Amino acid sequence: EICKGVNGLDKVVLREVRGSSAEMYLYGGHVTSWRNDHGEELLFLSTKAIFKPPKAIRGGIPICFPQFGSHGNLDQHGFARNRFWSIDANPPPFPTVSTNKAFTDLIFKPSEEDLKIWPHSYEFRLRITLGPGGDLMLTSRIRNIDTKPFSFTFAYHTYLSVSDISEVRIEGLETLDYLDNLKAKERFTEQGDAITFEAEVDKIYLGTPTKIAIIDHEKKRTFVLRKDGLPDAVVWNPWEKAKSIADLGDDEYKHMLCVEPAAVEKAITLKPGEEWKGRLELSAVPSSYRSGQ
Ligand code: BG6
Repeated sequence: EICKGVNGLDKVVLREVRGSSAEMYLYGGHVTSWRNDHGEELLFLSTKAIFKPPKAIRGGIPICFPQFGSHGNLDQHGFARNRFWSIDANPPPFPTVSTNKAFTDLIFKPSEEDLKIWPHSYEFRLRITLGPGGDLMLTSRIRNIDTKPFSFTFAYHTYLSVSDISEVRIEGLETLDYLDNLKAKERFTEQGDAITFEAEVDKIYLGTPTKIAIIDHEKKRTFVLRKDGLPDAVVWNPWEKAKSIADLGDDEYKHMLCVEPAAVEKAITLKPGEEWKGRLELSAVPSSYRSGQ
């Protein structure tokens, strides 16, 4: 179902029979909403989000491509997040998709202007799927249709909605090496404890497990994030720095946490004709109460 979103921008709505739903804007190929079968929103979207080019939408799942962050000469997080994508009405079959899932394929191809800032020809296909249990899956396929190889970095800049950032814990990143965007350009190593939040965090965990759990104690909800083709995971919460971000409310940092499947440390290189695939799968399950936690 295609309809008009904020500022008349086109959006696609996916609904699953049991009631879960997802919404994505063609602007940015950007998922802005994911609701469970009780209608509860699971992604954070800023009340101050600006739905207007060239600003990327603050919240949901921006696509960072062909550059993550400032790891290159392009603008922060590349340009896929502030370009208009289109819907592919005749998507090719994906081997993993069965017919009882709702999905949409969005396509991004560089314009003449885009080729001036990043001179490589490719086709970027993003499949957004809502599984029968309400799981949200994003599959990116980037194909080199150029005559030369190219390299890129990438992230699914996922903003999860949390009740209170101080009550959230991440499991799966303990003891890993990371780069810290707030510190020098060197590797650090995380200590054994589960990751919790009491100040600004902006880290790139390297070579992480494919499964990461984000536990929201207050909501008694656990997000299970699975990823494929994306070795790294960025964890970001701006904390007080939210005050200096125009499209984020001063206190909204309390209700968001970015956990971003990414390929940052080692760029992905595609030879002519080659295709890369990167997947994100999210599910939200009730956490079982464990005393003392
Ligand atoms: C994170 C980066 O992924 O995105 C942070 O690690 C950055 O350094 C944040 O501040 C938000 O970026 P932007 O461009 O959407 O404001």
